[in-house]
Amino acid sequence: MKRALQIRFNEYDRLDELSEIQVTLVNRAIEAAKSAYAPYSNYYVGAAVLLGNGEIITGNNQENAAYPSGLCAERVAIFYAGSQYPDIPVTSIAIVAMQEGSIQDDPVTPCGGCRQVLCEKEAQGGTPIEMILYGNKKIQVIQRATDLLPLPFILRK
Ligand code: THU
Repeated sequence: MKRALQIRFNEYDRLDELSEIQVTLVNRAIEAAKSAYAPYSNYYVGAAVLLGNGEIITGNNQENAAYPSGLCAERVAIFYAGSQYPDIPVTSIAIVAMQEGSIQDDPVTPCGGCRQVLCEKEAQGGTPIEMILYGNKKIQVIQRATDLLPLPFILRK
């Protein structure tokens, strides 16, 4: 038997095509990116997470001289949300990347490790996590974390 997987998502040219809360999340992610600690890659990433209670949590990438010890912006934000609000689902996340003080033209897509973490958070919360991937010339809005990680690993007990 052959099977195929397909994902659908929305793509926009401009920020004003998004909803008010989506614009707020993108702006919070841009602000967060500016204070990333990225002296090794000079790649500044910001993430803004919306919780089910309306709270917004932000994070940015935190690098380290022992390179693998660093952490991506998405995981900084998701893990902080989990530590402070363990029972509240995440409903949306906006992600932005900056280089030399400018936002990238193309949207930044989360790395494989962050996709895994987002998928587990989505399963835990029982509600889809919308992902707003922001670039100056293109914005992609993906409906749920599992859309970017089909056939995810789940620990079956
Ligand atoms: N990075 C993120 O924070 N999020 C992503 O989605 C991609 C990569 C960080 C990790 C590292 O600090 C730098 O960007 C370069 O890879």
